[in-house]
Amino acid sequence: MAVNYTIESRWNDEYVDRDPRDLIAQVYQRYGAGVTLASSFGAEDVVLIDMACQSTPSPEVFSLDTGLLFDETYQLIERIVNRYPIRYRAIQPRQTVAQQAEEFGPDLWAREPNLCCSMRKVEPLLRALDGKTAWITGIRRDQSPTRKNAQLIEWDEQHQLIKVNPLAYWTEAMVWDYIREHGLDYNPLHDQNYPSIGCFPCTRAVKPGESARAGRWAGFEKTECGLHQDG
Ligand code: ADX
Ligand code: SF4
Repeated sequence: MAVNYTIESRWNDEYVDRDPRDLIAQVYQRYGAGVTLASSFGAEDVVLIDMACQSTPSPEVFSLDTGLLFDETYQLIERIVNRYPIRYRAIQPRQTVAQQAEEFGPDLWAREPNLCCSMRKVEPLLRALDGKTAWITGIRRDQSPTRKNAQLIEWDEQHQLIKVNPLAYWTEAMVWDYIREHGLDYNPLHDQNYPSIGCFPCTRAVKPGESARAGRWAGFEKTECGLHQDG
């Protein structure tokens, strides 16, 4: 159910040069229990989980568990859930991978990735955000041209709630500085040339000189899975 909450858009100016933790603290204070944090357990998301736990005792964190994540990702999720006092929700698609293969044929991702993403990520996201006031994501402006206008706080027209991108102005180097300074756990695939990690059938390592997202849906025009309409 969508509810029109007042978006504090003035925070886009107020927090532009400040520590993302200041904004995150404000978001939990202002929007309270209606806040949820979307995590694919990539580098940005482990930073956000660490920051959220400094602002609120037990932040809700969800991941869209497509059933096709890397083993390394599932192992990291287990470690993070043990390390932090988060309330973790794994949101599953309506069909298992086997059921999907039965109805649509095997390896749908290799033939129709948009259909596969719509069933395994986009629809589950609607359920994850149902009844929420605001969601926090790890989107950064320099991740891709489609994300270059991301705001710290914006109205998510697609899902009808507030979207907060606390790391919008951070560079990849800033993310990794935070991870190292605070001794955070992270997906070991990042050390094997996987800067951006999604489902295993649709993610490959990047080659020297390629962009960070070149390993996602390589061979397809597709650059986004549909979670983020404007990038
Ligand atoms: S994607 O749209 O291409 O998959 P990307 O991997 O760059 O997105 O992640 C951007 C942000 O979207 C993440 O920081 C996280 O907030 C959210 N996100 C992406 N994938 C998932 C997922 N499987 N579950 C929950 N949140 C996700
Ligand atoms: Fe399917 Fe690939 Fe999308 Fe995962 S990223 S839901 S495997 S198309």
